[in-house]
Amino acid sequence: MLELKQIGYWYDREENSLFKNVDLTFETGHSYAIVGQSGSGKTTLLSLIAGLEKPKAGEIILNGQLLSQIGLTKYRQKKVSIVFQSYNLLTYMSPLNNLLTAMAVTKSTHEGDKTYAREMLRKLGLTDEQMTKNVQRLSGGQQQRVAIARTMCCDAKLVVADEPTGNLDEENTQEVIQLFQTIAHEQDRCVIIVTHEPDVAAACDYSYRLAHHEFALEK
Ligand SMILES: Nc1ncnc2c1ncn2[C@@H]1O[C@H](COP(=O)(O)OP(=O)(O)O)[C@@H](O)[C@H]1O
Ligand SMILES: [Mg+2]
Repeated sequence: MLELKQIGYWYDREENSLFKNVDLTFETGHSYAIVGQSGSGKTTLLSLIAGLEKPKAGEIILNGQLLSQIGLTKYRQKKVSIVFQSYNLLTYMSPLNNLLTAMAVTKSTHEGDKTYAREMLRKLGLTDEQMTKNVQRLSGGQQQRVAIARTMCCDAKLVVADEPTGNLDEENTQEVIQLFQTIAHEQDRCVIIVTHEPDVAAACDYSYRLAHHEFALEK
C-alpha cells in the first residue's frame, strides 16, 4: 500500500543524514512499530510518511501513486490520519464535536453521521455524558481514545502515531495498543506506530529498528 523507495533525509547537510537509501513497504491489515534511540530520526520518518515534510531523496508511493502527484495537501486531508502523543484534540469542544469536525474536514463517508460518531465513542468506552462535555474533562487515556475514535470516523487507510502511549499508564497503554490492532485488523488499515516502549513494539505485527541510519526488521 505504502512504499518508501531509497528515502533519505537530513536537516542541515547531507553528510549528517538521519537515514538514507531506506526501502520499506507497509500494507493494510497490519500494524508496524518503529523503534530506535531518542534522536535517531523516528519522528522525522513519520513526518515524511504523514506528508508533513518532503524527503530529501527518494520517493514515497501510495497505491502506485507518487505523493507529489497526489499533492501533499490532499494526501494529508484524505489519505493519512495522525495520532499524537499529546492527543491534539480541539480543546474547546466535546469528544462528539471533535469527531464531527474531523469527519467534515476530511469529507469522510460518515460526514454528519452523529449516530456513527457516538457509536465509535461508545465502543471505546465513553459514556453518553462524557461525549458531550469538554474533552479536557477527560483523563489522558480517555482523550487518547477520542483521538483514536477520530481516526476511526475518517476514511484514511493509513494511520500513523507518534509515541501514542507516551503519556499513558500501563493499563491504558495496553488498551490503546489493542485499539490500534483493531484498526489494523478489523478495519483493514495500515497502522504505523513510533514508540520507545518494548511492550508496544511487541504488540505490533512487525517492528523495525532505526539504528546506524538504517531500518532493520526485528520482528
Ligand atoms: N526541525 C529540525 N531542525 C533541525 N534538526 C532537527 C529538527 N527536528 C529534529 N531535528 C534533529 O534530528 C534528529 C532526529 O530527531 P527526531 O526525528 O525527532 O528523532 P526521534 O523521534 O527518533 O527522537 C535529532 O537530532 C533532532 O535534534
Ligand atoms: Mg520522536
